[in-house]
Amino acid sequence: MTNFEFKNPTKIIFGKNTIEKLTTEIPSEAKVLLLYGGGSIKKNGIYEQVKTALANFEVVEFGGIPANPEYTILMQALKVIKTEGITFLLAVGGGSVIDGTKFLSSAALFEGDTPWDILANSIPTTVGMPFGTVLTLPATGSEMNSGAVITREETKEKRGMGGPGLFPKFSILDPQVIKSIPKRQLANGLTDAFMHVLEQYMTYPSGGYLQDRFAESILQTLIEIAPKILNDPTDYTAASNFMWSCTMALNGLIQKGVPTDWAVHAIGHELTALFGIDHARTLAIIAPSHYAYNFESKKEKLAQYAERVWQISEGTVDEKAKSGIEKTKAFFNDLGIATKLSEYTDTYNGTAELISKRFTERGWLGLGEHKTLTPNDVEKIVEMAY
Ligand code: NZQ
Ligand code: ZN
Repeated sequence: MTNFEFKNPTKIIFGKNTIEKLTTEIPSEAKVLLLYGGGSIKKNGIYEQVKTALANFEVVEFGGIPANPEYTILMQALKVIKTEGITFLLAVGGGSVIDGTKFLSSAALFEGDTPWDILANSIPTTVGMPFGTVLTLPATGSEMNSGAVITREETKEKRGMGGPGLFPKFSILDPQVIKSIPKRQLANGLTDAFMHVLEQYMTYPSGGYLQDRFAESILQTLIEIAPKILNDPTDYTAASNFMWSCTMALNGLIQKGVPTDWAVHAIGHELTALFGIDHARTLAIIAPSHYAYNFESKKEKLAQYAERVWQISEGTVDEKAKSGIEKTKAFFNDLGIATKLSEYTDTYNGTAELISKRFTERGWLGLGEHKTLTPNDVEKIVEMAY
């Protein structure tokens, strides 16, 4: 296990009917900007709960943040923050609304030329405008981490940002919100959380016994609750385990002291930027090819995963490792998620070369846990995923 430091300052308020706690979590003198997405919160009762809790606050609203939060729309929200003298941001939504809010938290205090530089030049945010979240969709873990991913349609880019100033002050996690989520988004959430764990686990044995078992326990829980939550999103036991698993998958804990990969996400973001494919689905497309391409360096962990998570006890290390990849694919397929790029678009010719070229231009010359995956390797992985 390697040395590490761990600090996660986000207060989690978890459970039934917890949205009313907003009243005591936001500073009483704050001028609040309530941020939300395309309007689902107005149909499922979450908006009313939030408004009731904020009855005694000065509140301005900004709705319409789309899935894959769009830079130009966020720039409109930034104008509202400045003209209204906003002092506290409240995100009510899934990863897109929360990530958009993180961008605004950073941009509101940014002193450079254009806020896009925060993303293009990987400028870390050490201090941001304070914000809290009401999570409406378990998936990304954004409610308890300090990262965000922002899309720019104009240039077909999707770039990450982060920094210690971007942890939410608090996040309210009421698993009852799950009941209105469409099946497609539930499947996405399960897949995204599953892949977050794999990005921090599917590397090489490094003596992180506890981290390995944290990771395996989240994977096993997601596998156990997946059919239950798809069948009945009002099942509170399944919903609460789903929500907490997604948060734990990417709040920084399981990656401490161990190597991490994240190449699947880096490549996946390009597929969203180029084709608009849902984030989770891009991961399901790339992961099987990535693991097959890097089989030699990942096979020990793949075999451990097959044994411990999928109870595959027969065969050699190579055979078990291959079964691990097959089981992963089958898990995504069972959720209704296709794992080939050709199942999403007919216009993928040239995609692999384009992604490889972009990575070269950005200087991303060595990805993965060994930092050895070159743009040329990335090109081959994308080709395998067609
Ligand atoms: O926009 P509304 O109308 O609210 O509808 C949303 C949206 O259409 C809907 N939804 C959310 N909660 C609902 C609901 N519908 C009914 N009932 C509810 N309770 O679901 C749709 C998808 O929402 P979105 O926020 O886009 O989904 P998700 O949480 O999967 O977020 C995806 C974004 O997060 C980024 C992704 O790249 C993508 O941009 N990620 C952020 C990460 C982070 N900050 O740590 C890590 C991830 O790897 C990921 O990259
Ligand atoms: Zn993800």
